[in-house]
Order: sequence, then C-alpha cells, then structure tokens
Amino acid sequence: MNDNSIDLTCDLFGMKLKNPVLTASGTFGVGKDFQDFYDINVLGGIVTKTITMNKRDGNKPPRICETRSGIINSIGIQNPGAEKFIKENKEWFSQIKTKLIISVSGNTEEEYAEICALLKEKLEFDAVELNVSCPNIKKGGVSFGEDPDSVERIVRQVKKRTGVYVITKLSPWTHLVKKVAQSAESAGSNALAATNTIPAISVDVKTFKSRIGNVTGGLSGPAIKPVSQKIFYDIVSAVQIPVIGIGGIETAEDALEYIILGAAAVEIGSANMYNPFASKEILDGIEKYLKENNYKSLIEVKGKFSG
Ligand SMILES: Cc1cc2nc3c(=O)[nH]c(=O)nc-3n(C[C@H](O)[C@H](O)[C@H](O)COP(=O)(O)O)c2cc1C
Repeated sequence: MNDNSIDLTCDLFGMKLKNPVLTASGTFGVGKDFQDFYDINVLGGIVTKTITMNKRDGNKPPRICETRSGIINSIGIQNPGAEKFIKENKEWFSQIKTKLIISVSGNTEEEYAEICALLKEKLEFDAVELNVSCPNIKKGGVSFGEDPDSVERIVRQVKKRTGVYVITKLSPWTHLVKKVAQSAESAGSNALAATNTIPAISVDVKTFKSRIGNVTGGLSGPAIKPVSQKIFYDIVSAVQIPVIGIGGIETAEDALEYIILGAAAVEIGSANMYNPFASKEILDGIEKYLKENNYKSLIEVKGKFSG
C-alpha cells in the first residue's frame, strides 16, 4: 500500500521520519534477518540491539520464557562489544535507506559518551538511543534509569562530547519517571522513548524454580500495554520534546492508541519475534485507518486524546 495522499511523516524536532513505525531494540537484531520477509526500508527506522563498549556474554539461560500474554526476557545485553559490532555491520548499515538508530548502554555514566564518540567516528547513523532502563543488569542500566541526576549527567555528556541526536529510553520501574524524563529533556535529549520492559518473575511449580536463569527478567508484549500506556501518558504530559511510544504494540490499533495519546512515533518490540511481518503490517494498518477515516495526515490524530 502506498497512497501518496496520506502524509505519514513525523517531525521529531531534528529528525524527520517517513512514517512513525520503528522497531524496538533487541527484537529486530540489526534488521538483516527481516530483510528476507519484506523490505525493511519501508519502516520509519530501525533501532538496533543494545551494545556496550566491551563484549558481554549475557545472563545465565534460560533467558526467555512465555507467559499468558507476554514474554519475560533476561538477555543481559549480550553483544560483541562496540568495535566488533561496527566492523560486523558497517557494510549492512551502509545499505539501509531508513533511519538507523543505535542503542547503547554503559557500565558507567562515562561509558555512554565514550561509545557514542566511537560510533560517531566510525559509523554513519541517524541517532543513538540511550538504554538507561534495562532491568536485567545489576550494575548497568537499572540504577541510571531510576536516578534523574544520573540520567541528566549521561545525556549531557553524550550531547557535549558528540552532538548526536539523542533518544533517551526510559525505565518504567520508578515513581520518579516524570522527573527522569524532565532531567533527560533539560540535559538536551532530543526525544524520549517510553518504555522498556517491566520487571517480572515466573515460577515453575514442578521445580520450585524460576523459569528464568537470572531469576527475574523483564515482561513485554500485550500484557504490558495498558501499564506502559499509563506511564507513557504521564511522561508525554511532563515534557515538550517528542516521545516515542513502546510497550505491547502488536496491531495498528495499539500503535494508534499511543499516537492518539501523543506519541511522535512508536517502536514495535516482541510482536516482531512471533510475527516477522508485524512492523510492516502495523504500518499498513495505520495508513488504512487514516484513509478509511478520511484523515490526510498522522498529525490530525496525534495527541488528540480527550480524556
Ligand atoms: C528478547 C528481548 C530483548 C530486548 N533487548 C533490549 C535491548 O537490548 N535494549 C533495549 O533497550 N530494550 C530491549 N528490549 C525491550 C524492547 O525494546 C521493548 O522496550 C520492550 O520489549 C517493550 O515493547 P514490546 O512490549 O513491544 O515488546 C528487549 C525486549 C525483548 C523481548
């Protein structure tokens, strides 16, 4: 479907997307595997799996378990390290004709700026997404994402050192979420993404053990949508910068709900894992909804939530 009369573009204050559908970090790899299913360049952009400066082996298996309406994962940011990631994917990335957003995390506040500087020197990309929210890493993201001052320092350092377009991906697991959002905004974050997985556990009554090797993990998928949307709603009303909606989106209607609540764009996560066409189908569905309801652009519905 490609009806030019519908304007799906999104202006993220400094980064323009051709449409609002992005893929969420950790659920789409670097996009390469999905290219066999459809042309991923039709999407508004892709967010790659989080990388850290040094290689990480990830958490003890099992790392994923299914629940009735969601997935619990505890991957532990397994990745080959920034240098190897760049080397392995540089050529693939040079062929991508949509926005390329690199997700990064650090063991220390300083590491975020270091990794962004390395990326800037060695790779062409459109933005970084700062994963300050991963609930799996004891010494990593969790503490940063819950601490407004820490998030402020991380964002400030990244902006000062590199000037790259920054999306700060927030943790849902803090009562300070509005404050964290405002700290990221005042430190110069260009946009926010909300939110990440919600801490969860699954007990096996046969073994009396957790179904996750790391005991706890992060819940994603349809189960978290209403909770994620409430947190998103709180955040979007607390800041001026664009906020990308994430959490439990598996249909165009789910995505539109976030857009009506004020999302500048959306990221599709777990749905990619059980339906490789999910992101493309959601994009087509958004366009179909706008057409059927005689809207000419996404702007006509964005943020029109009336309470
Ligand atoms: C298997 C898996 C791996 C993930 N890895 C990352 C990651 O590396 N970095 C990150 O910021 N979020 C990661 N996430 C979180 C997703 O990007 C997303 O925020 C979350 O799953 C909520 O969206 P969803 O309900 O649409 O899946 C991961 C999620 C899953 C299911």
